[in-house]
Amino acid sequence: MKNVEVCLTPDLVKTYGVENKIVVVVDILRATSVMTTALAHGIQSITPVASVEECQCLKDSGYLAAAERDGKTVDGFDFGNSPFTYMDKSLAGKKLAVTTTNGTLAITRSVEAEEVVVGSFLNISSVANYLINQPHDVMILCAGWKGRVNLEDTLFAGALIELLGNAFDSENDSAIAAVALYRMAKDDMMGFLKNSSHAKRLKGLSIIKDIDFCLQRDVYDIIPVLKDGELVIREKTYAEL
Ligand code: MLT
Repeated sequence: MKNVEVCLTPDLVKTYGVENKIVVVVDILRATSVMTTALAHGIQSITPVASVEECQCLKDSGYLAAAERDGKTVDGFDFGNSPFTYMDKSLAGKKLAVTTTNGTLAITRSVEAEEVVVGSFLNISSVANYLINQPHDVMILCAGWKGRVNLEDTLFAGALIELLGNAFDSENDSAIAAVALYRMAKDDMMGFLKNSSHAKRLKGLSIIKDIDFCLQRDVYDIIPVLKDGELVIREKTYAEL
């Protein structure tokens, strides 16, 4: 039986190990929601990097560049980290470099995995259906906040495990905790998250509509995967078409 576990912050990745696993990286507010939205709206590829310096280098070499720290756009960069930015049709076909406070760090800590998949509520059913049809164990890696656990990523983990059903063994404490939290919050996720640290942080920056947008379910039927350091939309096999 395949196993699914939840790593609640990137600081615990070494404890769990990523080898031979599919790692689903999640940063609901907002990095992985933005990455899913950007690719769904035609961005060709996204290069996630951990540092502002790396992102600056890619910018200098002609990439579109987005840099966010503590919810704000870093000075000197084209974009911050809002999903609405990438709905601009003029950006379609472009290559984007991205660095964020937590989400891109979580991706860079997963590169030794069998495969890295980007998850969000916006594409949760597509991700679940894909994982069910793969032979590998799964680790859901929550980006959290600067090494701390956050609520919204943990809720996503619980929701995804519910969708995986009995295709996976989820009898481990981190998975049990995530499912229990999700069952407590699922009927009013916005209400449950109004006191979450990052929701309060974004509200403090008058970034409200991003929160609403990122909590929507199944808006996009795409699976962003990491290929040679770039996030691209996974091509469906003939059988999946
Ligand atoms: C992050 O990577 O920490 C988040 O995506 C930050 C944000 O978008 O506000």
